[in-house]
Amino acid sequence: MTRPKILVTGARGQLGFELARLLPAHGEVTALNHMQLDLEDADALRATVRSLQPALIVNAAAYTAVDQAEREPGRAEAINARAPGILAEEAKSLGALLIHYSTDYVFDGTVSEPYAEDSSANPLNTYGRSKLHGEQAIFASGAASLVLRTSWIYGLRGQNFLLTIRRLANEREELRIVADQFGVPNWSRALAEVTSTLIGQGLAALIERSGLYHVSARGSTSWFEFARAIIGPVEKPRVVPITTAEYPTPARRPLHAVLATAKLERVFGLALQDWRTTLERCLAAA
Ligand SMILES: NC(=O)c1ccc[n+]([C@@H]2O[C@H](COP(=O)([O-])OP(=O)(O)OC[C@H]3O[C@@H](n4cnc5c(N)ncnc54)[C@H](OP(=O)(O)O)[C@@H]3O)[C@@H](O)[C@H]2O)c1
Repeated sequence: MTRPKILVTGARGQLGFELARLLPAHGEVTALNHMQLDLEDADALRATVRSLQPALIVNAAAYTAVDQAEREPGRAEAINARAPGILAEEAKSLGALLIHYSTDYVFDGTVSEPYAEDSSANPLNTYGRSKLHGEQAIFASGAASLVLRTSWIYGLRGQNFLLTIRRLANEREELRIVADQFGVPNWSRALAEVTSTLIGQGLAALIERSGLYHVSARGSTSWFEFARAIIGPVEKPRVVPITTAEYPTPARRPLHAVLATAKLERVFGLALQDWRTTLERCLAAA
């Protein structure tokens, strides 16, 4: 049997790196990084998909600099909205499946209940708006797609909260961490594993179940508690809780964005792990 061709974009990102490691179990993977495929270059994007003719496109590339996006809304929109729309159009004309990732930042975080897929989106910042536009462009194309919203990605490579906290813990006596923003930390590898498990169910089954899904570890926490869990029970540095108001950033962030994952678990028969279990696995892999 011929192995399906799989195109992975953003291959040097947190998630893209893990996908590029895992997805060869399912097909012939071409994993391209930013230098090899620039999502801002619409012609290159179309040409790459047309020449490769993948059965599956996994778009892990994105403009993820949340604060910087406030100064570069055009680039955020080109990478997070226009490019996924193009990938979806190309997937549609090939009869391919597109797997794409979106974010909890499409929500405003004003309710304390977890958000379901059909909860109303109301992004507070440019990044969240551009990601929402990406979802809309994909669904408007009519392509078979899984749009997977997730949150607070960390891992052992790239730029993320876990690596920042581990570095600062060695440099400082005291860490002041926001304690009034709640969400769910997700290890990049665990997200890639879920993606791989889904692909293992077969592309036809995924095409049949096209749509929007929340993919996240179970439970929820604050950045403050997440920092304490990363550092563990040590005396130094002291971790001090602060408010969002004490740590102003260019982009506003949702105060309580937890994604309900019941739809994904029911439709695909998956059981997701608690965020603390996943964090322990990540720290053990360090
Ligand atoms: N990080 C989070 O906390 C978070 C939370 C919720 C959802 N998500 C979503 O999850 C997905 C994966 O995120 P991640 O954390 O793995 O992001 P990441 O580590 O920032 O990786 C994104 C990758 O996209 C690449 N990229 C940026 N602009 C590009 C362009 N014009 N053309 C091609 N590649 C480009 C980056 O390459 P360079 O670094 O070389 O520019 C980077 O390797 C994204 O869709 C993101 O929106 C992330």
